Amino acid sequence: MTGGGDCPGLNAVIRSVTKTAIYDYGYEVFGIEDGYAGLIEKRGFDLNSDIVSGILTHGGTILGTSNRANPFYSAHSRGKKIVFEDESVRAVRHYKEWGLDGLVIVGGDGTLGIAHKLAKKGIAVVGIPKTIDNDVWGTDFSFGFHTAVSIATEALDRLHTTAAAHRRVMILEVMGREAGWIALYSGAAGGADVILIPEIPYQFNSVCEKINARLKQGKRFSLIVVAEGAYEKGGSPIIQREDKKNRYPVKLGGVGPWLAQKIEKQTGMEARAAVLGHIQRGGSPIPFDRNMGTLFGKKAVELISQNNFDRMVCLSNQKIKSIPLESVIRSRKMVPRQHPLIEAAKSVGTSFGV
Ligand code: F6P
Repeated sequence: MTGGGDCPGLNAVIRSVTKTAIYDYGYEVFGIEDGYAGLIEKRGFDLNSDIVSGILTHGGTILGTSNRANPFYSAHSRGKKIVFEDESVRAVRHYKEWGLDGLVIVGGDGTLGIAHKLAKKGIAVVGIPKTIDNDVWGTDFSFGFHTAVSIATEALDRLHTTAAAHRRVMILEVMGREAGWIALYSGAAGGADVILIPEIPYQFNSVCEKINARLKQGKRFSLIVVAEGAYEKGGSPIIQREDKKNRYPVKLGGVGPWLAQKIEKQTGMEARAAVLGHIQRGGSPIPFDRNMGTLFGKKAVELISQNNFDRMVCLSNQKIKSIPLESVIRSRKMVPRQHPLIEAAKSVGTSFGV
């Protein structure tokens, strides 16, 4: 089952789990449709090696996904009202009726938190971390992240040349929710002059000072990457909209264009913003994420074969391991202020707006 927002590499995992289970263990494999929605509504289909053949390189997920469905807090419209019901008993019943012996749940922190609750209700769960945000605790990286970084870096490279041609301030807004991993990694790789992340609330004047300092050095353009959750010291992130049926009802977005008009006013330089949005989540995964998906999938089946449940597969110091789901869901993995890439970026003159 794949749950939460999609990310590049989900199909690599589905292929790996299916083929490993069939070839190495002689298991039968079943796919649940649309994340927890399929478990609640009893929707799924048999998987075999033919079905998963050729999907390694494809974006999205052949199983579908949902970041709204939650068996413990299932949203229903009643007229104009939205009511939430606990449908976990139904979900567990479906798992048993299907005759499943284990359930691989591929998801981010929200999906994995629900997985742990289902494990307590008797479902033999193994989790695999996925998210472009890279904020799942307990794994060095989740698959999908490096693909998102490479897409954001390419966007920055392209903005770089147009910024220089027009002598403008160009701002790229990237995803990540409350975590600044995509902004940090793409900003450092793309040589951004300013990187703004939620973990380091910025001071607007410092951002403008950096732009003006570059002007004094004869550099008549600047490149800024801003995480969607970044905010000014003493302020709060910009909310694009609310989706009450979503597990994360608050949708962040808009800080890029907001900064552009403020910078234009303050510095007198022309400023433009590009919001990368879901482009970061779509399309083919890079080789690193394909291979991580294949490694994670194999490890998940291995855990099932050992009856080692309620755990999450992880990458730790270049080794594929597993840790209890309980330890994963306690906190989210944020960018530490002393992260080596922050230090290295500072050393080459990058500003973090402080
Ligand atoms: O968590 C992944 C993510 O892509 C975030 O980076 C982003 O804020 C959010 O999902 C967008 O969610 P949706 O697909 O519901 O717009």
